[in-house]
Amino acid sequence: MKLLDLFGILTIVDEVNIMNIVVKKDKRMLGIGSYLLEFIINYTKEHSYNSITLEVNENNIPAISLYKKYNFKQVGLRKKYYNNKDNAILMTLEI
Ligand SMILES: CC(C)(COP(=O)(O)OP(=O)(O)OC[C@H]1O[C@@H](n2cnc3c(N)ncnc32)[C@H](O)[C@@H]1OP(=O)(O)O)[C@@H](O)C(=O)NCCC(=O)NCCS
Repeated sequence: MKLLDLFGILTIVDEVNIMNIVVKKDKRMLGIGSYLLEFIINYTKEHSYNSITLEVNENNIPAISLYKKYNFKQVGLRKKYYNNKDNAILMTLEI
């Protein structure tokens, strides 16, 4: 397994795509999600990628809070993306 697989990211041309970030339930709100995201941001800079993209359920307040903390901006919306019900917000951080 590559290091990248451990962090749930895919690289596509000049872009890093976050597939998932998960922190164990009883360890949340301790800064671990921030640590993981900072790792990905630093990886992106060090390897000269231009942006980081992801999609997140519009009802996922913890995840959206995490991404906003690092200045990710909403760039799109996929309607009824999750279970044909919840919308997905597309977010990007330009590096
Ligand atoms: C999203 C997730 C990874 C955040 O991990 P975490 O370790 O709790 O995050 P942190 O402790 O670093 O918090 C990051 C910021 O988000 C905010 N945040 C975290 N949980 C929150 C909550 N339940 N409600 C509101 N804000 C929240 C924190 O306040 C923090 O901001 P601050 O540093 O200004 O206080 C975690 O909640 C998780 O694993 N969720 C389930 C999986 C998931 O939905 N992943 C995202 C898929 S796109």
